[in-house]
Amino acid sequence: MDYLYYGLLGLVLVILVFCGNSLYNLNILEKKCKENEDERHLDKIIHTKQLINTVIVLGFLMSAFLVYCLLKGSIYEGHFHEWSNLIVRWLHITFGIAWIGSSFYFISLENGLNRTKDLRDELAGNYWAVHGGGFYYLEKYNIAPKVIPKELHWFKYESYFTWVSGICLLFIVYYFNAKAMLIDPKICDLTPSKGIGLGIFSLFLGWILYDRMCKSNLSKFPLAFALIGFIFAIEFAFVYSHIFTPRAAFMHFGALIGTIMTLNVFFVIIPSQKAMVEAAKNGTYLNPQLGKNAGLRSLHNNYFTLPVLFIMISNHFPSTFSHEYPWLILAGLSLGSAGIKHYLNLKEKGEQSIWVFPISVLLLLSVAFITSPKKGNSCSDTVSFKEIYPIIQSRCIQCHSASPTDKIFTVAPNGVMYDKPEDIKRLSDKILQRAVITKNMPQNNITNMTEDERDMIRCWIEQGSNIDN
Ligand code: HEC
Repeated sequence: MDYLYYGLLGLVLVILVFCGNSLYNLNILEKKCKENEDERHLDKIIHTKQLINTVIVLGFLMSAFLVYCLLKGSIYEGHFHEWSNLIVRWLHITFGIAWIGSSFYFISLENGLNRTKDLRDELAGNYWAVHGGGFYYLEKYNIAPKVIPKELHWFKYESYFTWVSGICLLFIVYYFNAKAMLIDPKICDLTPSKGIGLGIFSLFLGWILYDRMCKSNLSKFPLAFALIGFIFAIEFAFVYSHIFTPRAAFMHFGALIGTIMTLNVFFVIIPSQKAMVEAAKNGTYLNPQLGKNAGLRSLHNNYFTLPVLFIMISNHFPSTFSHEYPWLILAGLSLGSAGIKHYLNLKEKGEQSIWVFPISVLLLLSVAFITSPKKGNSCSDTVSFKEIYPIIQSRCIQCHSASPTDKIFTVAPNGVMYDKPEDIKRLSDKILQRAVITKNMPQNNITNMTEDERDMIRCWIEQGSNIDN
């Protein structure tokens, strides 16, 4: 089998070198065409470059996957996993910042346009700004300029790459480790392939339902649209919480919103803009509905930004996803954060709102309230470390050790190790948080920790985490 992987890897690398070389030559050609104003060839070159870039991205993904197949089962698997997670996460955050940053920028541009003073007829508004030591002046056209400029800047790759890197991360963190991260037999006994299939299928199903809603008459009634859309979304959250681990449920809900956002860009916003450019170039009739469709999807994406960010980071905070009803927490987080976006939009437009902000903040705070820890029974007897140490040894050390024995977590997760009593004492705060309050450790309770043991750990920590008795 290894030979097959090596062979494929070699082939992919050759293709990558070939693509890199072609890209280099095309760049030179592109420069020449620009100098000679050779429009016809320039278009072809740009299309070919896009194709080659796509092949390069796919080639990198393929080679990473082949390297993973080669290292699987070796001592390097855990290390490879950590580094691919780190690199892809870095890319995902960077593209996401670029995408959401440009989205915020254009919304504030739109809201801040001067639409009244000293405007030429063809303009919808203009905008003065100072940034980075320079003055900028922008104009927005009512429809399109008479001549479409040669250098027109598009904003789409930020979105596509955020999505692609996000899906890669979903694979790296949840799907390659489906048994530990995606599925918990106590919640739903799925096979890894069924779980992964359901996860991917749900993202596209969500998009199809949402897209149908946008194309129906419902989109003419924004409030009803928002309400029904929200109910649909929470149904997805509900199903996710009943088939996946709570963390994976949170992540799929975030990925669902992210998928809808990117496909809005890919299937509606960019095609509408392309049609607008074509119509302006050829001087043909432009259906105004196209612009309206794109505007509606942009507006939805704008409302999705804060919820998707909140959900993505709350996935690192077990007090949110370890609640008994993860879908309820998702509902509160989504509503509260979208409400704050609504408030910001109103504010940029100069509209006053009294209730939107306080209600949204109250919603978020009520999530903090309902996820707060419950008080345990009082501890009558002193719990000694002699009783605690064996619990940690039998329930945690499989993963949290300098030399883990777990098959999947071959490196101590987050570098947390409980080999020495001093480490257990030093890290007792977090042990309380994860093994007693949120109970999401041991991972999927794979080592069968009992409620009594959790209670003993709580008492030992409440009594001062003493390791000398
Ligand atoms: C099957 C492997 C496994 C077992 C067993 C396990 N953990 Fe974990 N633990 C993980 C993984 C994976 C992470 C990182 C993901 C996360 O934060 O949820 C983690 C993270 C943690 C963290 C967060 C560390 C940080 O700094 O962010 C704490 C605390 C923790 N575990 C405590 C425990 C305790 C206490 C036990 C035993 C009662 C235990 N774990 C048993 C796999 C395990």
